[in-house]
Amino acid sequence: MCGIVGYIGGREAYAILIDGLKKLEYRGYDSAGVALLGPAGLKVIKSRGEIAALEGKVGENIPSGTIGIGHTRWATHGAPSDINAHPHCGCSPQFAVVHNGIIENYLPLKQWLQAEGHHFSSETDTEVLAHLVEQYYKGDLFEAVSAAIKKVEGSFALVAVCEQEQGKLVCTRKDSPLVIGLGEGENYIASDVPAFLNRTRRVCILEDGEMAVVTAGGVEVFSAGGEPVQKKVSEVTWDAGEAEKGGYPHFMLKEIMEQPRALRETMRGRLLDGGKEINLAELGFTPAQCRQIGRICIVACGTAYHAGLVGKYAMEKLLRLPVEVDLASEFRYRDPLLDPETLVLVISQSGETADTLAALRLARRRGNRVLAITNVVGSSVAREADQVLYTWAGPEIAVASTKAYLTQLLSLYLLTLYLGKQRGALDGESLAAMGAALYKLPSQVETLLAREAELQEIAAYLAPWESAFYVGRNVDYAVALEGALKLKEISYIHAEAYASGELKHGTLALIVEGIPVIALATQSAVLEKTLSNIKEIKARSGHVICIAREEELSFAAEVNRIFTVPAAPDIFMPILAVVPLQLLAYYTAVARGCPVDKPRNLAKSVTVE
Ligand code: G6P
Repeated sequence: MCGIVGYIGGREAYAILIDGLKKLEYRGYDSAGVALLGPAGLKVIKSRGEIAALEGKVGENIPSGTIGIGHTRWATHGAPSDINAHPHCGCSPQFAVVHNGIIENYLPLKQWLQAEGHHFSSETDTEVLAHLVEQYYKGDLFEAVSAAIKKVEGSFALVAVCEQEQGKLVCTRKDSPLVIGLGEGENYIASDVPAFLNRTRRVCILEDGEMAVVTAGGVEVFSAGGEPVQKKVSEVTWDAGEAEKGGYPHFMLKEIMEQPRALRETMRGRLLDGGKEINLAELGFTPAQCRQIGRICIVACGTAYHAGLVGKYAMEKLLRLPVEVDLASEFRYRDPLLDPETLVLVISQSGETADTLAALRLARRRGNRVLAITNVVGSSVAREADQVLYTWAGPEIAVASTKAYLTQLLSLYLLTLYLGKQRGALDGESLAAMGAALYKLPSQVETLLAREAELQEIAAYLAPWESAFYVGRNVDYAVALEGALKLKEISYIHAEAYASGELKHGTLALIVEGIPVIALATQSAVLEKTLSNIKEIKARSGHVICIAREEELSFAAEVNRIFTVPAAPDIFMPILAVVPLQLLAYYTAVARGCPVDKPRNLAKSVTVE
């Protein structure tokens, strides 16, 4: 977690660093700091709280310098405080470092450094990096950083600056992302591209173990062994505006509204001729490889895991292939059974989630083919997987994932249809019918988004409650889990999702008068059963808000409130059913005055275990 930035060039660095940090606040926002190197030396300013608190502390006394580093923190070691905020210095304020990741062996290193005479001021693991650089510094910052990282175990993206070496920043990474933005007579370093996207689109991605010396005039990259590396420069195609709010009050609402476009982008070139033709040749699977898959193991975290659950329903139903879905944090430590015919499918919006990346690496070590569904080109997951199916959702900034989830679902459906075709599990007629249904989804989502006022009204009922339930049967259950996650992460309402059939095994005891229960009823095959479950809740005075297929108006008489969604084949209904749940969560959080884009204790990209 955490966001780091660096700037070196001819302009005053402070405003550039602050602007970059604000774009990275989704990575953490419990404290922030900057270090500026100017003629007067190195000046470090840090503050507990969001970037705005740092700006408040700086006030009119803007530090001068054309070289600088900055950090926005998501605490791991040491509580959020001014002292624990980055940048961290050694004993003398000549060196400053910013770090994202975890130094696992920081305690023995700290003890050793203390025995060598170093004095520590924070409780962080990062501070050992600053003291290590200081310890090894013999007039060359690059050499000192190189020696320091040889001592550490764990993950890091690191930028270091030294007062004696005006004119350079040194950076390196292992298991945490770091990108360099190339400008004209100036260069940038950041955890993620949006930090400098309004200034340059030319980027160079640092690989694990690589180190770079960044000056105003250029970038030199070296391998872990110290050999110069010729790096590829890529052009980021995202529009800088896409990473901004574009007039919406929150990124989350903007991203919800962008979903039709994100779906269309994700199907572009893959779903052809109005959906009649499906083409995922980009994956490079031979027909034989498609047929050889004996089992699929989906691994992900958070919302991406919920997308995986939908994928299981779709693949098992349409491909008749066994599919398991695992939380990456469980998968990586449970010695999973992976036979050679198992395709491991990892799903990650950011492509940097530490547990997902570890799961991917484990699968590859075992010799299994890994296919990744990810949104970030050049991310660690994208680079390390055997094959990648990109979701073209554009940058997702809000912590609560919305458009990434929808495009993950679409990618899973596309993959299912493609494998169905290659394996002969689906005949031409069903493929064409399902392709056409997928093709219609973006415009169906548009009609749902136009009805946001209805959800704002329902949110007014939900907002005063401290508990809510989500129920659904079959694939509606997977959607209920995602709906509940959206509500709890941004509105802090305790929301639980249950498989409808499980209610009577305990949860009914929690149904009290008026308690909001969001019931999903989109699966035509089990509508009768769902209706019986709704009646059980109503009989205990629960307040049922039903998300139903538009032709199922019979539900209206049985529930307190109904929100209908357009019809699609049952298995594709999650794309339509989740949209009202996203808007409901959003408007509930707004009604409760919650910081929607930056919920407490959370961060967008979880690059620590
Ligand atoms: C965090 C985010 C979630 C996201 C999860 C997995 O918890 O807040 O929105 O679903 O990480 O992230 P990934 O980038 O791997 O999809």
